[in-house]
Amino acid sequence: MCERHVFVYVMLVAFVGGCTAKLAPDFIHPCNNTEPACLIQATKDAIPEFSKGLPHLGVPSLDPFIIEELPIQLPGIKVTFYGGKATGLRKCEVLNVEAYLEKNMFMLEVRCNITIKGKYTAVGRLLLFPINGEGDSKIKIVNSVIKLDIKTKYFKDADNRDHFGIKSYKYTFDYGERIFYTITNLFKGNPELSNTVLQFLNENWRVVTEEFGKPVVDYAINVTVHTAKKFFDAVPYDELLNVPIPKY
Ligand SMILES: *[C@@H]1O[C@H](CO)[C@@H](O)[C@H](O)[C@H]1NC(C)=O
Ligand SMILES: *[C@@H]1O[C@H](CO)[C@@H](O)[C@H](O)[C@H]1NC(C)=O
Ligand SMILES: *[C@@H]1O[C@H](CO)[C@@H](O)[C@H](O)[C@H]1NC(C)=O
Repeated sequence: MCERHVFVYVMLVAFVGGCTAKLAPDFIHPCNNTEPACLIQATKDAIPEFSKGLPHLGVPSLDPFIIEELPIQLPGIKVTFYGGKATGLRKCEVLNVEAYLEKNMFMLEVRCNITIKGKYTAVGRLLLFPINGEGDSKIKIVNSVIKLDIKTKYFKDADNRDHFGIKSYKYTFDYGERIFYTITNLFKGNPELSNTVLQFLNENWRVVTEEFGKPVVDYAINVTVHTAKKFFDAVPYDELLNVPIPKY
């Protein structure tokens, strides 16, 4: 009798320890259905911790998010942004999350305040002004709304476990209420002109952002999607969602 109990116990330990070692971190609260209410809550629960990064799963930090070097070639001006850091993602407000498993569609809508700080060089023309600058820059984005549409796929890993994959994505980005630019030394050695042009840029922030912001946002969204991809590669489907996976 006693021996039998010990045997069962050993089997259980072997089973729990050996086969179902959970990969998903504790802040992942899998939904039992794909109702937006649950998906929104689960996303809210996950963002603050997920954005810190999960080094043991090969998932880098998104807040702060390091921008080592980002060259932006625009008609007439070349801007290089380097030694940069973006913060604020962990506080994004989750507006909507929808998932259509059969249709391979996933939609995420968030509202964020993001601050990007770093060094820059700029040579060329910006709007009307000839620019030859090098200095510090800070961009503060207030209440921007990002809507991300992802086309998903499913695949099996080497252990035959199912995973979410990302096939493609597109996004829309509403610049929000206001963007504040703080940029030093736009004209080397001429602080008065630098300040005048900076003031002009801030007064015309919408036009400036349409010209200059898109490559930055493209870059940021690409990194975010690739970060999510690394996470989906590491953590199997059944640890993320308690809904049977569609045939694929
Ligand atoms: C899903 O169901 C399990 C088991 O009934 C429950 O413990 C868990 O809280 C449910 N998850 C959510 C997000 O409601
Ligand atoms: C962004 O900042 C503004 C102004 O400080 C604040 O009113 C708003 O609630 C913030 N939005 C988010 C999503 O944190
Ligand atoms: C997107 O990011 C990945 C990984 O960081 C990189 O390999 C790829 O070149 C990037 N694509 C674009 C279009 O920037």
